[in-house]
Amino acid sequence: MKGIILAGGKATRLRPLTVITSKQLLPVYNKPMIFYPLNTLLKAGIREILIIIAPDYAGHFLHLLGSGREFKARFTYEIQEEPRGLADAFIIGKDFMDKDSVAMILGDNIFTDDLSEEIKSFKRGGRVFAKKVPDPERYGVVKFNQNNKAEKIVEKPQEWISDYAVTGLYIYDNRVCQFAKELKPSDRGEIEITDINNKYLKLGELDVKQVKGEWFDTGTFDSLLAASNYVATHKDL
Ligand code: G1P
Repeated sequence: MKGIILAGGKATRLRPLTVITSKQLLPVYNKPMIFYPLNTLLKAGIREILIIIAPDYAGHFLHLLGSGREFKARFTYEIQEEPRGLADAFIIGKDFMDKDSVAMILGDNIFTDDLSEEIKSFKRGGRVFAKKVPDPERYGVVKFNQNNKAEKIVEKPQEWISDYAVTGLYIYDNRVCQFAKELKPSDRGEIEITDINNKYLKLGELDVKQVKGEWFDTGTFDSLLAASNYVATHKDL
């Protein structure tokens, strides 16, 4: 299995912090943000990792992470010129993935669980991780039926359907590249990972796991602070 870290975007919500560097390089307590998702992949034994970055601060990423040798891994970099949506990772990453499956993690998502077993045990289809949140309208949301089986996933639902957000770690088999290629942009002009998840769901091949520990999507000032505070008091992360 290969790994992709999606660390593109302009992060306008975090201005002025993101005027001088990329969001995923901002500090979360004592480490740059990207170290946390990177560690989630490394812990699971993934050694070949593609890092997708925006053009503006590409040099900062190279300076920080280099070839990956220091992490006993191999890093490849690709530039995402415009933030076209999360599913774009599987279009940009097609050659890198070759015939392998992939664990794609967002460069601003921090998981306190060790998800290694869930990553290593993946065989085929898709696997995503859901977490109960107070503000589901900010995320892709998964609705479960009476038997606790995922029924559908809706991107930023305007009407409440469930409290379970789909978090930013996605595991797919190689078919994801083809599925991504077939996507049409949504109303917000992006190719949505939610559409990929619904595709696997319709095929009966989407496995939805629960996140037991904390999960931070550090795209806002408050979540950035919450993540820093968490790390400050749980120094093992
Ligand atoms: C994206 C996805 C959404 C997911 C979230 C996790 O949202 O579209 O489905 O729940 O990441 O962080 P965005 O960051 O594009 O608002």
